[in-house]
Amino acid sequence: MPGVRLPDGRFRAAGGRANFTDDGGGGAKVAISMSSAEGDEFRVLLDDVRFQQGGHAVFDGLSCGFPRGKITVVLGASGAGKSTLLRMIGGLTRPDSGRVLIAGQDITELSETELFSVRDRLGMLFQGGALLDSLTIFENVALPLREHTRLSDPDIADEVRRRLEAVGLPDVDDLLPGQLSGGMKRRAALARAVVTDPEIVLVDEPFSGLDPVNVRRIENVLVDLNRRLGITLIVTSHHIASTLRMAYRMLFLADGSAIYGKPDDLLKSSDLRVTEFLSAETQETWQPKSPTPPGLRLASRAPRGAA
Ligand SMILES: Nc1ncnc2c1ncn2[C@@H]1O[C@H](COP(=O)(O)OP(=O)(O)OP(=O)(O)O)[C@@H](O)[C@H]1O
Ligand SMILES: [Mg+2]
Repeated sequence: MPGVRLPDGRFRAAGGRANFTDDGGGGAKVAISMSSAEGDEFRVLLDDVRFQQGGHAVFDGLSCGFPRGKITVVLGASGAGKSTLLRMIGGLTRPDSGRVLIAGQDITELSETELFSVRDRLGMLFQGGALLDSLTIFENVALPLREHTRLSDPDIADEVRRRLEAVGLPDVDDLLPGQLSGGMKRRAALARAVVTDPEIVLVDEPFSGLDPVNVRRIENVLVDLNRRLGITLIVTSHHIASTLRMAYRMLFLADGSAIYGKPDDLLKSSDLRVTEFLSAETQETWQPKSPTPPGLRLASRAPRGAA
């Protein structure tokens, strides 16, 4: 179910309620708190974001929210703007206009220096996952702790081992990234992205190029991070089956805007862009031996909502 634009240009999430509070400071800044119909608080919020690249509107008045402590999966065709959206939330790309709010703070107004403190609250894992090739896995995961905390070496060692164990990599401390498989590298990169206990974690295409077993492993790590630590996860993906298993909400990007809803809502959507996308991906992952048509099989699978 899509969000709707209110008559005065504000955004309201599907059936939700927007509470706009003036800060009383002459209207220079407005604090926004938005809740969905189900009472979800949006921890990250984009408000009427416009962004052009090469004369093409990537976002044309995009408004969307990401519920606190839940997993939202961002879908959309290649070039729809999924990575751009994450870069904007991470403060790496500024919109041409509109606001990007993290915990109520508009980060588009911040200087580069001010953005550092916002980025401390964020963990980011971008497409390609970039571990540093010349550092061991242990040192890769330890790096953010060395840079952002004053922990002692023994405490860092404890923390790194704990994180690597949590992603199912207890024995790779001394290996270099080049000695790990693609799936193991992805899990190590995830361990690094969350080692400083960020409140919000942005993950770009964690499943691309992985075999089904590794897709499940990464998926389990993400769900576990969300459930155990209450991390707000924003994940882009083309992997529909895993999206339906782990997403609390889905955000489908198309034509500079977005369609937001529960996985079931999007599966039942009558929007052709959504149905074509979901059915194309469904057919790709469909096993011919299955007696059930792919659409039904996926529709009947209950999404595993995050805690
Ligand atoms: N630095 C850039 N310079 C020029 N165009 C860019 C740049 N970054 C993104 N774009 C354009 O913005 C649009 C969105 O790109 P983006 O990488 O966000 O898409 P995506 O949904 O992540 O695609 P994919 O599924 O292939 O990863 C594309 O049209 C792309 O060409
Ligand atoms: Mg991308």
